Amino acid sequence: MNKMKNHCYGICFFISIAINILLCTGIYMYIGGARWGDMKQEISWQSSLALTWTEKAAAEAEAVAAAPCSGHGRAFVDRLTSDGQPVCECFNCYNGSDCSAYNPECAAVATSGDLTFLEPFWIQNAANTAVVISGWHRMTYNYAHGTKMLTELENCIRKLHSIAGNAVTEGRYMVFGVGSAQLLSAAVYALSSGNSSSPSNVLASIPFYWLFKDQTSFFSSKYFEFEGNTNSLQSKNSTNNRDVIEFVTSPNNPDGELKTPVFGGKAIYDQVFYWPHFTPIPEPSDQDIMIFSLSKLTGHAGSRFGWAIIKDRDIYDKMLLYISMSDVGISHDTQLRALKILETTIDEDGKPFFEFAYTKMTERWDRLTSAFSKSTRFSLQDRHPFHCTYFNETRLPTPAFAWVKCEREVDNDCRAVLEAGKITSLSGSRLSATDRYTRVSLTMREDDFELLMIRFTNLISLENGSLQTM
Ligand SMILES: *[C@@H]1O[C@H](CO)[C@@H](O)[C@H](O)[C@H]1NC(C)=O
Ligand SMILES: *[C@@H]1O[C@H](CO)[C@@H](O)[C@H](O)[C@H]1NC(C)=O
Ligand SMILES: *[C@@H]1O[C@H](CO)[C@@H](O)[C@H](O)[C@H]1NC(C)=O
Ligand SMILES: *[C@@H]1O[C@H](CO)[C@@H](O)[C@H](O)[C@H]1NC(C)=O
Ligand SMILES: *[C@@H]1O[C@H](CO)[C@@H](O)[C@H](O)[C@H]1NC(C)=O
Repeated sequence: MNKMKNHCYGICFFISIAINILLCTGIYMYIGGARWGDMKQEISWQSSLALTWTEKAAAEAEAVAAAPCSGHGRAFVDRLTSDGQPVCECFNCYNGSDCSAYNPECAAVATSGDLTFLEPFWIQNAANTAVVISGWHRMTYNYAHGTKMLTELENCIRKLHSIAGNAVTEGRYMVFGVGSAQLLSAAVYALSSGNSSSPSNVLASIPFYWLFKDQTSFFSSKYFEFEGNTNSLQSKNSTNNRDVIEFVTSPNNPDGELKTPVFGGKAIYDQVFYWPHFTPIPEPSDQDIMIFSLSKLTGHAGSRFGWAIIKDRDIYDKMLLYISMSDVGISHDTQLRALKILETTIDEDGKPFFEFAYTKMTERWDRLTSAFSKSTRFSLQDRHPFHCTYFNETRLPTPAFAWVKCEREVDNDCRAVLEAGKITSLSGSRLSATDRYTRVSLTMREDDFELLMIRFTNLISLENGSLQTM
């Protein structure tokens, strides 16, 4: 406790910002008869005495944020030692209670879809995005007026899309979900035939995100089943008289391509990567069902928050029903956090955020393509420049993943070839492609990206030598 008090002087600024945030969002409360406005003035006096509840929360947050972890780890408020000290959780390759032990032999891990490269942006914006959640914050199932979706958050999302120019939201319905994953499932349910004698066939084009298949098969019902690859059905002309639901991922996971549907019928557009940091935005998407997530926009995957933009009233009703049946609505704590994060995302028309994210991604792609230009053994997906309406400039796409191909005949398991070079990636077959391809994530922390580049540079430098020995 004494240790925490020492932080008090430094946190007055932080507290006043936290209180301003509370006031701005319309959270208007009385504590022991004292108004927030009055309390605000008192805080500087009180900080040298007993801690107020917000000061205590702030002191805890500051103490955890200040834990150095040797610069190779992070501590969090939800994990303290029994005597209240921060616990360092070390980054890949680091170990020990202060994360100072480096393991030079460790592999560069490039499997995850986490956007931890955005962590520095959120640390820079700590004051704008911190939230103090009181013990009595929105305990009820519903918001006032019986709604389950925070109107301010919905408005903020519509504004975000209009700023980014990536989706039409005027006159469209919106449904919140526990990440895009749940909304994909809700959309399959909503589009399915409802006729058990002719269940809908759910399809996607190779290569595709593994969750489409795994999740649809897992939840398959008498109304829909996962059928497989669009191309095989198309070549057999076997969709005649079948009810088809197609997943269209644009930009695609893993290769970043802007996909269009193979069939003209019912489609679910997974557009979680359709943001200016991953692709130029040629025009606002205007599809029947478009799905986005906080995870692939700001990197807050752990908050499990996504949204669907829907044209049709009937589909909207069915998706709402699905969410209500599975969750009885989305966590109010999550919605508050999403609001804070997205309000900062759209500050200054999104320029600070999208510039930061795009600059990082383009630096990484430049370094990767430069390393791969020396290679005849490995190749990357093609990227072609086109106009981005957001940046008003022609730019190259900078996808979240490199879709690496092993060019040598013998290298038919590309993931294993990379693994031998101490790079862990996701095999092509996990994405329904061949193992000649492997998916390499590029959205990790700076440390991990540096290690990835070291491993790739090394692997490529060995190429001609190892060819001679073969
Ligand atoms: C970290 O160190 C502990 C104790 O030496 C060891 O058991 C553990 O395997 C190490 N973890 C990593 C990821 O190297
Ligand atoms: C259900 O599907 C079967 C087989 O395709 C069809 O004969 C029947 O008319 C469908 N029922 C309805 C209500 O659409
Ligand atoms: C598929 O249908 C198209 C148009 O109906 C036809 O031209 C084509 O020959 C058919 N292909 C096969 C394999 O049946
Ligand atoms: C290996 O040799 C090929 C053909 O001479 C060349 O194009 C390539 O750049 C060389 N790779 C490296 C890493 O030196
Ligand atoms: C976009 O860029 C062009 C050429 O650089 C410029 O003429 C135009 O005014 C810009 N448009 C906007 C909306 O900034």
